[in-house]
Amino acid sequence: MHSDAKGLIVAIDGPAGAGKSSVARTLAERLGYTYIDTGAMYRAVAWLGLCNGVVGDEEGLVRLAADMKFEFVRQEGVQRITVNGRDITGEIRTPEISRLASPVSAVAGVRKQLLTLQRRLGEQGDVVMEGRDIGTVVFPEAQVKIFLVASIEERARRRWLELQDRGSDVRFELVLADMEERDKRDSSRALAPLRPAPDSVIINSDDKSIDDVVHEIITVCEGVMPKC
Ligand code: C5P
Repeated sequence: MHSDAKGLIVAIDGPAGAGKSSVARTLAERLGYTYIDTGAMYRAVAWLGLCNGVVGDEEGLVRLAADMKFEFVRQEGVQRITVNGRDITGEIRTPEISRLASPVSAVAGVRKQLLTLQRRLGEQGDVVMEGRDIGTVVFPEAQVKIFLVASIEERARRRWLELQDRGSDVRFELVLADMEERDKRDSSRALAPLRPAPDSVIINSDDKSIDDVVHEIITVCEGVMPKC
């Protein structure tokens, strides 16, 4: 059972673009923990749905989620994502998959499948797990729960810069509108909506570097486990 975790579980939740991925990855490296990006799992199901032509078919999506072999593979120091043996690390980061992952993640059967997988991956502890519902649903007993926020403009600006870096010429207004839509969907859905756990530490990353935020979280970790 996930409540028998042996090491520390650090849960990092928050809206898209708040800096969760960079912070969680850096934190995991500093602590020597495993980094688990749960958003990548929802993206993988959205990607499979698109490939198989079943994005609007809930049963089809649940079947794909149940059958998929999802793995984090470390290659030359970089974490890559494979599904059924195929490397899809880059393919799941397109604006199209970002848009699709949100409705896919509202499908109860998909969440159920991924919840089992997430608990299995994190149950031994010594993990930094990032998502929307880690502190509220996946590991409500996590010893450290962080809710990372930032203004919508700042989050959209970061995502837009990221997309530009990858060669996309998407307009800023479109990224902002997409993000507003995703925020609304993720916060208002009936199942595992995006919200801070009552015992989480809320950190606003607006004027902070990744290092500043990581440092703050390490201080929180030290408070619950001196070995951090
Ligand atoms: O974090 P990321 O943007 O990669 O997540 C993609 C989508 O997956 C989010 O918009 C959200 O709808 C969903 N998600 C979720 N629960 C999680 C992680 C992600 O519903 N734990």
